[in-house]
Amino acid sequence: MTAILRATGVELSYGSQRALSGVDFALSPGEVCAIMGSSGSGKSSLLYCLAGVVAPTRGDVTFDGVPLRRLGDDELSTVRRERFGFVFQYGELLPELTVVENAALPLRLAGQRKAAAHQAAEEVLGRLGLAELRQRRTSQISGGQSQRVAVARALVHRPDVVFADEPTGALDSANADSVLAEFLSLARSQGTAVIMVTHDASVASRADSRYTMADGALTGRAAV
Ligand SMILES: Nc1ncnc2c1ncn2[C@@H]1O[C@H](COP(=O)(O)OP(=O)(O)OP(=O)(O)O)[C@@H](O)[C@H]1O
Ligand SMILES: [Mg+2]
Repeated sequence: MTAILRATGVELSYGSQRALSGVDFALSPGEVCAIMGSSGSGKSSLLYCLAGVVAPTRGDVTFDGVPLRRLGDDELSTVRRERFGFVFQYGELLPELTVVENAALPLRLAGQRKAAAHQAAEEVLGRLGLAELRQRRTSQISGGQSQRVAVARALVHRPDVVFADEPTGALDSANADSVLAEFLSLARSQGTAVIMVTHDASVASRADSRYTMADGALTGRAAV
């Protein structure tokens, strides 16, 4: 199948610090992929490059056949906002907004009316066990609850690709399971591709493919 996302010879340096060295990677529509690897090996850096948050020092990333480096700033922002979903390693919810307002944000930014956006957000929140918290400000919920709100926000607009950096790091195994079930369900029903960084071997074992990052290089693909 044609890849929805492809990296070719991607290198990234932060000044003299090399974070990625010659990464080749391809993700198919509907594929849920897990990236493992030790701290500092380059996992977040890879996600940033693949998502067009950071431009690689060398090499190319293409999304849906188009090299990201060919897109202007506005086009790239639109792709990130409408076709990608993000769960960042350090949360990044808006604390003054409620749970449902945070989760509905991608739809509101795409111009959807409040009632429809909130209804869609509440459906995803319900599947992640957060229905009761929907009117709570996100400054007043726990770390694991915040992480699940971030997952709801990443999925609510049914993106083509979800980038998730340790999306289950703060969750017990039951809640980690429900996050993974949502990823798999969206992948199977909508063809959403998911790339997630995880330290949890049992989460990784349920992905369709697994890679290990070591010293900025991607190794050990194991497809199921
Ligand atoms: N903004 C930055 N400036 C300089 N060096 C950086 C920067 N961000 C990351 N690095 C370095 O790049 C390398 C890869 O970092 P990265 O954050 O991608 O690792 P990681 O695999 O996500 O680690 P962790 O599991 O701890 O989140 C590390 O050596 C890190 O110190
Ligand atoms: Mg990281």
